[in-house]
Amino acid sequence: MQDPRNPRPPSGLAWRWAVIGLAVVGTAVAFGYAGGWLAPDRLSPKKIINVLQANSGLHPGYRRNHAKGICVGGRFESSGQLAPFSEAKLFAQGISTPVVGRFAIPGGNPQAPDSSAPIRSFALRFDMADGEQWRTGMNAMPVFPVSTPKDFYDLNVATAPDPATGKPNPDKAKAFFGSHPETGPFLAWISKAKPPASYVDETYLSLNAFYLVDKAGQRHAVRWQVAAETPSTGDGGPAAGDTDYLAADLQKRLAAGPARWHLQFVFANDGDPIDDASKIWPDDRKVVDAGTIVIDSWQPQADGPCRDVNYDPAILPHGMAISGDPLIVARSAAYAESYLRRTSEEGHLPGTERPKEAQP
Ligand code: HEM
Repeated sequence: MQDPRNPRPPSGLAWRWAVIGLAVVGTAVAFGYAGGWLAPDRLSPKKIINVLQANSGLHPGYRRNHAKGICVGGRFESSGQLAPFSEAKLFAQGISTPVVGRFAIPGGNPQAPDSSAPIRSFALRFDMADGEQWRTGMNAMPVFPVSTPKDFYDLNVATAPDPATGKPNPDKAKAFFGSHPETGPFLAWISKAKPPASYVDETYLSLNAFYLVDKAGQRHAVRWQVAAETPSTGDGGPAAGDTDYLAADLQKRLAAGPARWHLQFVFANDGDPIDDASKIWPDDRKVVDAGTIVIDSWQPQADGPCRDVNYDPAILPHGMAISGDPLIVARSAAYAESYLRRTSEEGHLPGTERPKEAQP
């Protein structure tokens, strides 16, 4: 019998079982944490997508935000002017890089009228010759309403349609905006926003700041914008009763020839907020014109090449890097969740009798 005053160390076999047991328990805890089961109040990509889905209704196969859109194709022709600030190869002089793009309007309802929001978006995937990619999603507005993913979630909860009226409860929305003064610049802009009745005449902004990284490893904080070569008329005037004028206008404009935008990088001054998309930078900042985006084709999104693209803003080429803005990584995680849901439902999309991967 073992002497209790002098316990024998556990055998090697017992130690091994203990280590295996700890590894199993540790893995289960890690899964529980990542899945949000251990902390149901923690904000997760699933919760963000659930609230977007609840607000717009379920539309299988479509993006959970910016659901109504159209695929476009073309190229980016570099001016070479950005090359001193970023070693990304697509910015070298004379380089032409193919792009897969998508114009859209915000909201999760793919049948929403084009006038349902005064905001349009432009997403681009640059496919570089060596296989590297840059993906970006930009909105035609000067500033984002909030600074953090939690506030984005709370904003969506506060503006959820009231089941009784089908519209947001004005008291809840007012309470949210009242307790979030950072929404002021966005509210001031949207109360007067009059977008043109065309995707082509808009200027689209990254809103989040990122870093360019030059050959010496020096970082330069920037935001970018894709500025229309055709100045915006700002009349906001589609034909009466027309709810799908943006795609129709785009098709008409492209039939007449390619549409062009300038990819401009705006450089932060010392002290400008890098990690907060709810703050506008003064408009006298240095701007470098990196080149021209040329769009010359379109396809419906149901089976066009943009359908299965996740325009994840954290996918950057060597020579660009994310900033500490918490929205960027939250967007990356939420877009992945939206992508997983919509691509598993694609057979539901009108015009796709069978999912794309099942076609011969
Ligand atoms: C935490 C903040 C945000 C969340 C949770 C969010 C969520 C989403 C989701 C779920 C999608 C659909 C993604 C897909 O299925 O492919 C989407 C699309 C998009 N978002 Fe955001 N978003 C956020 C902030 C922003 C910001 C700051 C911008 C700045 C410009 C932006 C621009 C866009 C654009 C352009 C698209 C459409 C991309 C496409 O055409 O596929 N979003 N967003």
